[in-house]
Amino acid sequence: MLNFSKFPHLKFLLDWGSGRHALSATPQSELQRWQQAAGQAGDAAKGQAFFKQRHGVEWLCTSCHEQPPTREAKHAATGKKIGALPPAFYAKRLSDSAKVDKWFKRNCKDILSRGCMPAEKRTCWFTRWG
Ligand code: HEC
Repeated sequence: MLNFSKFPHLKFLLDWGSGRHALSATPQSELQRWQQAAGQAGDAAKGQAFFKQRHGVEWLCTSCHEQPPTREAKHAATGKKIGALPPAFYAKRLSDSAKVDKWFKRNCKDILSRGCMPAEKRTCWFTRWG
């Protein structure tokens, strides 16, 4: 048996390959993931400011998510329903790392014309709003 503590990236790849990562994510583990990547603790106040702020393009996070995002929202372009963001208001939130990554990638591109930095993700505003 491999010693995964020496090769954490291997364990990640194995989990990823088998799809097991999808079952193991929680809002807490996601926050920890971003805090580790950013090398800083989460900051809900900064996160809330980031969420409400315009970043140079027409759309902001609140174009598709309600402000505060504890309510169900409508997509700015398609009108499709989007569930509340805080896990306390929508149990499926942040329960699948691949889904979180996918939406962060898309959403941040729309808002910032680039991907979000780990420091921006780790703010994890929604954990405190629940
Ligand atoms: C163009 C519309 C749109 C914009 C703008 C947008 N989002 Fe989203 N977001 C979505 C949709 C659609 C989903 C997925 C639907 C769902 O999970 O209910 C989503 C899901 C999410 C999720 C949840 C992922 C999960 O695993 O549950 C997070 C977190 C998120 N968005 C954050 C943001 C942040 C932060 C911004 C601003 C940087 C932002 N969004 C801007 C449409 C948008």
